[in-house]
Amino acid sequence: MKHIKNICCIGAGYVGGPTMTVIANKCPEIDVTVVDINARRIADWNSENLNELPVYEPGLPELIKETRGRNLFFSTEVDAAIDKADMVFISVNTPTKTYGKGKGQAADLKYIELCARNIAKVATTDKIVVEKSTLPVRTAQAIKNILDNTGNGVNFEILSNPEFLAEGTAIDDLLNADRVLIGGDETESGQEAKNALSWVYEHWLPKERVLQTNVWSSELSKLVANAFLAQRVSSINSISALCEKTDANVAEVSRAIGFDSRIGPKFLNASVGFGGSCFQKDILNLVYIAKSFGLPEVADYWEQVILMNDYQKRRFAENIITTLYNTVSGKKIAFYGWAFKKDTNDTRESAAIYVADALLEEQAEIVVYDPKVTAERIYADLDYLGTRTSEENRRLLTVVTDPLEAIQNAHAVAVLTEWDEFKSYDWAAIFEAMLKPAFVFDGRRILDSEKMDTLGFKYYKIGES
Ligand code: NAD
Ligand code: UGA
Repeated sequence: MKHIKNICCIGAGYVGGPTMTVIANKCPEIDVTVVDINARRIADWNSENLNELPVYEPGLPELIKETRGRNLFFSTEVDAAIDKADMVFISVNTPTKTYGKGKGQAADLKYIELCARNIAKVATTDKIVVEKSTLPVRTAQAIKNILDNTGNGVNFEILSNPEFLAEGTAIDDLLNADRVLIGGDETESGQEAKNALSWVYEHWLPKERVLQTNVWSSELSKLVANAFLAQRVSSINSISALCEKTDANVAEVSRAIGFDSRIGPKFLNASVGFGGSCFQKDILNLVYIAKSFGLPEVADYWEQVILMNDYQKRRFAENIITTLYNTVSGKKIAFYGWAFKKDTNDTRESAAIYVADALLEEQAEIVVYDPKVTAERIYADLDYLGTRTSEENRRLLTVVTDPLEAIQNAHAVAVLTEWDEFKSYDWAAIFEAMLKPAFVFDGRRILDSEKMDTLGFKYYKIGES
């Protein structure tokens, strides 16, 4: 069997960085080079100060320290790294298209195509090309066409190897993956390529957790896995609205249904809505694919997961406005959390962005505290929406690095991310420093209702009346 000696990964993002760090750490005989066209990102990956890594992920700095410079390298020399490698991972972003055919739904594959053309241009030896990015079903065919028609006569095997890590737990997810999925051609050379990639993962995972399929099943399974996970969140969030009207408690409902082993307890936490770079984008992509194949009922079914998520974010913002006597104009609202979930500095599609946007439309004054997200990122998220000028965003919203500064004379606190530290705050002191009545809107259900009531707060917890 062919043993891989040199890996190149194109794309040093939230997937490329952690995934390659784990591969390099567990496979000391393989040299792994992660490349990116974003020079600042590469410089941050090479930073001496491990607090400056571009991705905040528990456990990552320790692994980087052990591995970087040994057999793990971060570089902007894309062409050289591709040519040297016998296996090239493509781990670039695949956002939703913002223009042309499929705008707002289809995946934008321009970065993928650029990578394929670049590999074709510079490769002088045979390569296994691995799709690590999440791609629409049948993308491997497009990559193969580009590689076969513009290459230098070298052989390429295309594999699909979607990533299932979740941010905030990426290192643990990679080290203890439930499964690794490898899709490839059912030809002899396709099988050899699948085995070569399986061998990499078998350095630390039991063989039976490495699943091999045909390439189309692998591509589609990734979209379906995210759609099923997001569907659970939207399902429980829809029930949270019903609980608030009926005196039922969504946590009790989750627990009661989760005890059924066919349903299971995970991914049933009601929240202000799911965020992250992938759930929405991948479902929209699934919807687009279903429509393209003439399956409108399938498309509508999955689109409802997104519509329910939009409703949940809107509902949370509207509840703040109506509870604060139908006007938030000039009122100070402290946001605890901006990241789309705890233990990450990623804010893509975070519910906080949309809640803030709705409140800013009503002229609220927002003060944000998040332990890991920078002010630069927060303003970029708001400016990207294009709802108002960037000067207005900066006038109405401020970012602080001290959680107590955020709540001084605030009318309300909105908890948008479930950071553990929020639970351990001195909420009695927070109550003292706020205007009265002091409102708390808990979009993550992390605080104790009884304690908050006793302290004197007007406390609203999603999914409870
Ligand atoms: P990201 O935006 O964090 O990183 C992508 C990187 O690719 C960027 O740094 C960008 O500069 C680089 N890039 C783009 N085009 C390039 C090119 N031609 N040459 C070199 N570098 C290039 O994205 P991400 O979150 O790591 O996601 C990557 C893929 O993995 C996406 O398809 C996503 O759907 C999928 N995925 C993401 C997650 C997650 O948790 N973020 C989990 C599973 C799968
Ligand atoms: C998700 C999947 O869990 C990963 O398997 C997948 O690889 C990844 O998407 C991807 O393809 O990008 P991620 O988005 O990083 O991972 O994080 P999740 O833990 O899935 O959370 C997504 C969102 O759902 C967060 O906003 C989270 O707060 C929310 N959520 C999750 C809930 O509101 N309730 C829950 O019970 C679970």
